Amino acid sequence: SLRGLDLRAEIDRLRKERNAVILAHYYQAPELQDLADFVGDSLDLSRKAEKTDADVIAFCGVRFMAETAKILSPDKIVVLPDMDAGCSLEDSCPPDQFKAFREKHPDHIALTYINCSAAVKALSDIIVTSSSADIILSQIPKDQKIIFGPDKHLGGYLTRKTGRDMLLWPGVCIVHEAFSETELLKLKAQHPGAPVLAHPECPPHILDHADHVGSTSSILDYALRAPDSTLIVATEPHIIHQMEKAAPHKTFIGAPGADGNCNCNMCPYMALNTMEKLYLALRDLEPRIEIEEGLRLAAKKSLDRMLDMAG
Ligand code: 13P
Ligand code: SF4
Repeated sequence: SLRGLDLRAEIDRLRKERNAVILAHYYQAPELQDLADFVGDSLDLSRKAEKTDADVIAFCGVRFMAETAKILSPDKIVVLPDMDAGCSLEDSCPPDQFKAFREKHPDHIALTYINCSAAVKALSDIIVTSSSADIILSQIPKDQKIIFGPDKHLGGYLTRKTGRDMLLWPGVCIVHEAFSETELLKLKAQHPGAPVLAHPECPPHILDHADHVGSTSSILDYALRAPDSTLIVATEPHIIHQMEKAAPHKTFIGAPGADGNCNCNMCPYMALNTMEKLYLALRDLEPRIEIEEGLRLAAKKSLDRMLDMAG
């Protein structure tokens, strides 16, 4: 039994013993963010995973992120505290259906959001994250036809922003889909002038009210630099932990769902990782991400293009 163990101390001991690096996404529980060696958005985490000289990467995030780490750093042991930590966007895009979609549109390239399986990455030309999508899109010739998947809201946002028409895969993030426009407008009325910061996975009726749209890192950065003392945050609310740590004098309010609070906007997949499971993952070096080499190399091609083009 794990009762009576000082998990934080045990994790620190194992991290040294295993020469492990702990990477965490901003949507993880505060205690996991606080013990991580590095916290970041999907692009930052990919770069860290690629460059680390640790022997083990313990990934506090979801499976597609840990898979990306393994694709880029195949010689490392990559553990994910809970292998069921998936993503609704990944689930929306089964590789066989994506393949059929591509075959129907042979003159299109596939620009694909990193929130997908390794198999879908292998079927794609270029991967993007929310922080790199604009700059990557701007490097693709104007007359090139594009399929964008699996997030239709990120795709729609990019189309509105850049004027590039793309064929969109109909996936959504269940977390960002749950924000309520009515409740957001009520909250804005209660806090006149408070800027709204939103992730591009939000539907357009939420993005329409945003003063800043960007990846988690970019939202965090904006929140810390903004002169405003109250800000409304329309993304998974665990990121507010970093904001409150760095700017304790400011007030950060999570954008509400239909029930008027932000609890329904917590990512249920991210929430599967816990201190206990991280401890066990470091102790047992399980559950481990393994990717067949042919698939890994195919997926790496589209990820490498992202890393090159993102600058
Ligand atoms: P970023 O951290 O890259 O903005 O991604 C958000 C997200 O939903 C990750 O699952
Ligand atoms: Fe997937 Fe949304 Fe959770 Fe991110 S927040 S992991 S996109 S379900």
